[in-house]
Amino acid sequence: MTRIAVVPGSFDPVTRGHLDVIARAARIFDELHVVVVHNPDKSALLPIAQRVELIRDSLAEARVAGRILVTSWSVGLLVDYCTDVGASVLVKGIRSQVDVAYETPMAIVNRNLAGVETVFLLPDPANAHVSSSLVRQVAALGGDVSPYVPRVVADFLRRPPVEV
Ligand code: PNS
Repeated sequence: MTRIAVVPGSFDPVTRGHLDVIARAARIFDELHVVVVHNPDKSALLPIAQRVELIRDSLAEARVAGRILVTSWSVGLLVDYCTDVGASVLVKGIRSQVDVAYETPMAIVNRNLAGVETVFLLPDPANAHVSSSLVRQVAALGGDVSPYVPRVVADFLRRPPVEV
């Protein structure tokens, strides 16, 4: 049986912490779906399609091995996506007790909704302080985000905004 897992998140933008979790999960599961989901509780920096592209480019840059599909989901519950693709597991990175408190209710609800289990992975402690919201803030104020994000993301964020 092919064990499919989903790594969901806002990925706005993808960070080195995300990449670490994806690489670890890819070594555990036969197939991984990295799914970009809009989080209505957060104000977005990048369009969803751009986030998907940056994840793909970051995985290629870091040569992360495995069967990994990067996509997005915007129609209904995340567990509906899992059911559609035959995934029985969600994977989340846990950096701190704050993450445990945030993720636990979602894990229980997702299990109750569709029997989808959540597996928590401990990322490299070097990335424990890295978050997309911190990256968004540093980037917006003109700071250097290159220690926190893959090179392709740092390069992208350095580009001047396109005038419309
Ligand atoms: O990177 P984030 O913002 O912490 O990711 C949160 C996300 C997108 C994984 C979470 O908001 C989510 O699972 N959204 C899907 C909507 C859903 O299914 N909600 C009900 C069960 S929690």
